[in-house]
Amino acid sequence: MVSYKSLGLVNSRELFKKAVAGGYAVPAFNFNNMEQMQAIIQACVEEKSPVILQVSSGARKYANQTLLRYMAQGAVEYAKELGCNIPIVLHLDHGDSFELCKSCIEYGFSSVMIDGSHLPYDENVALTKKVVEFAHQHDVTVEGELGVLAGVEDEVSAETHTYTRPEEVEDFVKKTGVDSLAISIGTSHGAYKFKPGQKPEIRLDILHEIEKRIPGFPIVLHGSSSVPQDIVAEINKYGGALKDSIGIPEEQLREASKSAVCEINIDSDGRLAMTAAIRKVFVEKPEEFDPRKYLGPARDKLKELYKHKVVYVLGSNGKA
Ligand code: G3H
Ligand code: 13P
Ligand code: ZN
Repeated sequence: MVSYKSLGLVNSRELFKKAVAGGYAVPAFNFNNMEQMQAIIQACVEEKSPVILQVSSGARKYANQTLLRYMAQGAVEYAKELGCNIPIVLHLDHGDSFELCKSCIEYGFSSVMIDGSHLPYDENVALTKKVVEFAHQHDVTVEGELGVLAGVEDEVSAETHTYTRPEEVEDFVKKTGVDSLAISIGTSHGAYKFKPGQKPEIRLDILHEIEKRIPGFPIVLHGSSSVPQDIVAEINKYGGALKDSIGIPEEQLREASKSAVCEINIDSDGRLAMTAAIRKVFVEKPEEFDPRKYLGPARDKLKELYKHKVVYVLGSNGKA
């Protein structure tokens, strides 16, 4: 058993308390390689933002559980070296079983999500409660989910949203003991969220109804990429073949982050930014074959994207 505390990581409890009180959200950025991790830490140190480094089960398989533990420890030391000891959470994104959550906790994660949102309500409650009971013995925080987002996450995909039912949240939080709750109010996973012409809408009315039932309880928004149109255009200009799509407007996310929404998950926008930078190098400098010459620009573009998110979407700059 490796305790996250020995790696210099923190759980999300205090961060969420401050975020809810301060009207901002903590960024949860997905990573699975060194350049992404460097970009996240550089951006968050420069903006003095707390950060959640999150890893999906697919990413964990890709990167290797042991390497991830040392990468997270490295992230803590790297942030200090860059000049700011920002709080860093290592979080499992969309955990789908008790065994996976337990294994992550044993390998140094400070926070886990158990996503039972596709299960019948009572099964979701039972599974989430089991994870909470184990996690809390190790002072690890747990995120649960109610309601189903449209889009693809790992092997699970849903065609349409099932909005979170406000009448269920109080019972769920009470029975499971979770520390935060992911809800479905109109965001969705992946780069293909809405077709141009459609109107993305975060249902602030449902969010406010939920907040009334569990005042001040930490809420998490998944599927919060905005699919920047300039980045999509750049990918396609340099030989990509992305279909037209739009994401969640940043102003709506900023509005939501002023409420009890205290964590906002962004993955796809980072994937797009990296891809655009790499494609540009491949087209403009076809003679290059040193990975640093294309992963370096990708890292720079990622950092720029994350800084923008922290300042203009999350409002978490200066909160470390
Ligand atoms: O919500 C899902 C995240 O974007 C992770 O995606 O399972 O392809 O790593 P992944
Ligand atoms: P996006 O696909 O919108 O980036 O969402 C990521 C996410 O919710 C990770 O859990
Ligand atoms: Zn998600």
